[in-house]
Amino acid sequence: MMWLVNFLVLLKLSACAIATLPTQLIFQTPTGQALENIAVRPSSKLLITSTASPTLYTLDPTVANATLDEVYTFPNASGLTGITEYRPDVYAIVASEINATALTEAPGSVVIWSLDFTSRSTPAVRRAARIPQSKFANGLSTVPGEPDLVLVADSVLGMAFEVNVRTGAVRVLIQNTEMSLIPSGPPPTLGINGLHVRAGVLYFTNTQRGTFSRVPLGGGTVEVLGSGEFDDFALDTEGRAWVATNPGSLMLFTRLKNGTFEAEIALDTVLNEPSSAAFGRDGARETKILYVTTRSGQIVAVDTSGALA
Ligand SMILES: *[C@@H]1O[C@H](CO)[C@@H](O)[C@H](O)[C@H]1NC(C)=O
Ligand SMILES: *[C@@H]1O[C@H](CO)[C@@H](O)[C@H](O)[C@H]1NC(C)=O
Ligand SMILES: *[C@@H]1O[C@H](CO)[C@@H](O)[C@H](O)[C@H]1NC(C)=O
Ligand SMILES: *[C@@H]1O[C@H](CO)[C@@H](O)[C@H](O)[C@H]1NC(C)=O
Repeated sequence: MMWLVNFLVLLKLSACAIATLPTQLIFQTPTGQALENIAVRPSSKLLITSTASPTLYTLDPTVANATLDEVYTFPNASGLTGITEYRPDVYAIVASEINATALTEAPGSVVIWSLDFTSRSTPAVRRAARIPQSKFANGLSTVPGEPDLVLVADSVLGMAFEVNVRTGAVRVLIQNTEMSLIPSGPPPTLGINGLHVRAGVLYFTNTQRGTFSRVPLGGGTVEVLGSGEFDDFALDTEGRAWVATNPGSLMLFTRLKNGTFEAEIALDTVLNEPSSAAFGRDGARETKILYVTTRSGQIVAVDTSGALA
């Protein structure tokens, strides 16, 4: 999606704590087709969504000259947003009739699909839930310990839905000002965008407000951790957050001993409109590789092993 404002105000910017992280461009869509979100399979293969296509793609990042191959095309949809692995090699995916220019999704078109790769080479596909009340379903998160639940960020309504992917039940889980749009605020008109749960805490970005925040899952005070033009993000094994930050960087949020978060620019070249990030699987080296998608169609592998906590 296009970004009309460029700002980067950091609450706390430490002086250059990270050596240059090695990067590798592993794919570029030939037409510049926007890539939106990413999940990494236990096999190390990537699953990639695009707001400009109802087709889910896969790419093997371990081979030279990797290709982007079609996995499945969802019906009655024009684009895909969030993807998350809610059981081993089983994924929830958001499909809708999306207009990525107008930042709208057609009323009633939002569906959460389930793709199960465990039984066959071609995935078993099931419609898990409809969210007719959704205005712009965007990021997806699992809920650790609750394998039937996923959380869906609604970027226009400014809330997180909880979806039971077994029963199809949908309810509003959390709604607060930090997730919401600014009334008559500037573009882009996307509030809460990425969201991920860790240790009972919901971390989320708000693109229009330019904030990265967290709130206890059970409710409570929202804490703003930092500011920047944020999209989706990945949490690493040390609890740090790697946030896709426009126009072209990755911000790293590290929790200090006294509980405050320090923000630093982990990468500020290579990426062009980063949209999401996910860590590799299967092996000590792979788990330090952060795969980043961009709205200019890049898939970039970032070796984060030099960013010691
Ligand atoms: C990858 O592409 C480059 C440039 O086209 C080519 O020289 C190389 O042989 C290819 N490698 C493989 C493994 O196909
Ligand atoms: C797609 O939409 C058409 C027309 O509304 C409907 O008849 C059909 O059942 C839908 N397909 C799916 C898989 O939802
Ligand atoms: C998407 O929205 C833009 C801006 O409102 C509009 O010009 C365009 O026609 C829409 N595209 C589709 C496919 O409806
Ligand atoms: C936490 O520690 C950092 C680094 O030592 C310091 O800059 C910051 O002011 C501290 N915050 C609080 C709330 O004590």
